[in-house]
Amino acid sequence: MGKPVVPLLPRPERRGLRAGLSMTLLLIARAGGWLRARRRCSVASMQRQRTWLITGTSSGFGRAMTEIVLSRGDRVAATVRETDAMDALKRTFGDALWVASLDVTDAGAVRRVVDEAFQELGRIDVVVSNAAYGLFGAAEEVSDDQIRRLIDTNLVGSIHVIRAALPHLRAQSGGRVVQVSSEGGQIAYPNFSLYHASKWGIEGFVESVARETAPLGIEFTIVEPGPAQTGFGAGLVVAPAMDAYEKTPSGEIRHAIASGSFGLKGDPHKVASAIVDSVDRTPAPRRLILGSDAFQRVRAALVERLAALDAQAEIARSTDLAP
Ligand SMILES: NC(=O)c1ccc[n+]([C@@H]2O[C@H](COP(=O)([O-])OP(=O)(O)OC[C@H]3O[C@@H](n4cnc5c(N)ncnc54)[C@H](OP(=O)(O)O)[C@@H]3O)[C@@H](O)[C@H]2O)c1
Repeated sequence: MGKPVVPLLPRPERRGLRAGLSMTLLLIARAGGWLRARRRCSVASMQRQRTWLITGTSSGFGRAMTEIVLSRGDRVAATVRETDAMDALKRTFGDALWVASLDVTDAGAVRRVVDEAFQELGRIDVVVSNAAYGLFGAAEEVSDDQIRRLIDTNLVGSIHVIRAALPHLRAQSGGRVVQVSSEGGQIAYPNFSLYHASKWGIEGFVESVARETAPLGIEFTIVEPGPAQTGFGAGLVVAPAMDAYEKTPSGEIRHAIASGSFGLKGDPHKVASAIVDSVDRTPAPRRLILGSDAFQRVRAALVERLAALDAQAEIARSTDLAP
């Protein structure tokens, strides 16, 4: 039994042959001992090979996604603020990994790096806007600078990344954009108001842009993970507490986070795998909620909002112009 056919073919042929070969490969694999022994490798090679652009790949979900897709033979344009963070992966994966330094708050740099990535790698199938961080404190507790920095990164930075990618995605007649949001893009905790503003904001942006670009073959998925053990906690910017909030829900959540009792059930690798796998689904799921708690919390919030909406049907109708 020879080696599997698909990995020996050049990239474009591999893409075109995937569907037709899958049954043939399955039959060969059933008949041949060699392919049975290499089953996992063959399954990976039967997946469509893609090129990705991922922001914020130094740690957490971005890092895990990068490792997963490189390991299965895809190529990645990875952006980080400190490129040293990618040295080990670069040694392992060589030319499959293209690394650029990028702070997403710099609109000019975002445009330049995204342009370079498409120039260097040709087609990019999936753009993952992932870079973001958390700001913790009641609305009165956080400073003006902290607010500006957070919104510039999570909301405006993500908008820059998507806007920079759109002309290229249009030129190549389509592609997938994955915006990493949060369960906090649909629900709210006290003391995360600015983080929620950034995530609810980017979800609104994506909802609209997805409608603009659907006819151009560009699809969007908003990912909404629950709390997970990434670098997010270490990167969380914490505003000084005000006594006035000590005996309120703000104070309670501050103590829960300080004592470690705030649940972090999410497994970053499983979250990253689910995001990567979601790209195989067509049409793209508009939202991908990840985590059992996140699912329950978002579901409860939506049920409550729907009930509140339905209760207002009459007053909503009452404000129309007379027919
Ligand atoms: N972990 C959670 O509980 C959780 C839950 C729901 C959603 N999320 C979302 O998941 C995404 C990834 O976060 P994570 O949990 O994986 O946290 P993480 O490990 O801290 O990763 C965040 C990444 O974003 C990068 N980043 C931050 N500010 C940046 C900027 N101005 N320019 C460029 N890159 C910047 C960081 O780079 P540096 O190393 O340079 O700082 C890092 O690579 C975020 O969108 C976050 O909101 C996280």
